[in-house]
Amino acid sequence: MNQLAIEVKGLQKKFGGKIVLDGIDLAVPKGKIFALLGPNGAGKTTFINILSTLIVPDAGTVKVAGYDIVGNKEEVKSSISLTGQFAAVDEMLTATGNLRMMGRLSGLSSSESRIRTTELLKYFDLVEAANRRVKTFSGGMRRRLDLAISLVVGRAILFLDEPTTGLDTRSRQLLWDIVLKLAASGITIFLTTQYLEEADQLADEIAVIANGHVVAQGSAEELKSRIGGEVIEFRNEKDQIIREFPTDGSIHELKRVLDRYRGNYTDGVRVSIRRPTMDDVFLDLTMNKQEVSL
Ligand SMILES: Nc1ncnc2c1ncn2[C@@H]1O[C@H](COP(=O)(O)OP(=O)(O)O)[C@@H](O)[C@H]1O
Ligand SMILES: [Mg+2]
Repeated sequence: MNQLAIEVKGLQKKFGGKIVLDGIDLAVPKGKIFALLGPNGAGKTTFINILSTLIVPDAGTVKVAGYDIVGNKEEVKSSISLTGQFAAVDEMLTATGNLRMMGRLSGLSSSESRIRTTELLKYFDLVEAANRRVKTFSGGMRRRLDLAISLVVGRAILFLDEPTTGLDTRSRQLLWDIVLKLAASGITIFLTTQYLEEADQLADEIAVIANGHVVAQGSAEELKSRIGGEVIEFRNEKDQIIREFPTDGSIHELKRVLDRYRGNYTDGVRVSIRRPTMDDVFLDLTMNKQEVSL
């Protein structure tokens, strides 16, 4: 049996003369949370649109739930949920009204639709807001309703394109909890994000894209360790960081950095050593590295 939910080989996409995806290879195991992490304009939405059959690639093969996205488009569509695309929220209806309508449109009977609506309102923390019109909803509530609507009919694979962009901290946390709950129920989740923290918190596996390529792939821990070892920070009297140096974590190199800079700083300057964060990884992979000469 195929254990991959998504399999992408040599995927290419151009718009006009501009190459957006330049030979992407990816494999997403079933039941995992996979994050495609990249800065704005990296091609994340384009990638999700191709995987969900909304646009066609120029080259490469893509299988979703074992089906070819070009040859078996309908089978792919019936295997996936896509937030904010197939589902159109009606502003004038209540949350309940929207969910019931989507239930009926998806072929559920009236009573099935009612039962499913009750389940989803509870799951997405929308019980109190159930009978309010959507136009009065906050951004976070709207995002949760949107997700609930896309899940009226449970599908094996869920695509989330930047699910928490623009949300406040509390709404973001609520959505993260829901994503983790959905994953625990066995759904494969493919999400895109520009937030390192989001990928770090949620994903079993992360692929970083920049300039059309996957520049790194692995678990958050693997990516962090790839970047090397501890980062040395120099802090001033006000505890502000004045300089940082990535190291390979060896005693030799830590000593070398400290010896090299001993003379540059006054006694008020403090040194601390920390593990690399996802920010270090992301900067290292997607930006031109600032030259650190010792
Ligand atoms: N339909 C389109 N026509 C022309 N260019 C596009 C189209 N869609 C996306 N692009 C371009 O492709 C690049 C990647 O866009 P996108 O996939 O939206 O990136 P992301 O979602 O990572 O921010 C951008 O430079 C964008 O302007
Ligand atoms: Mg996008």
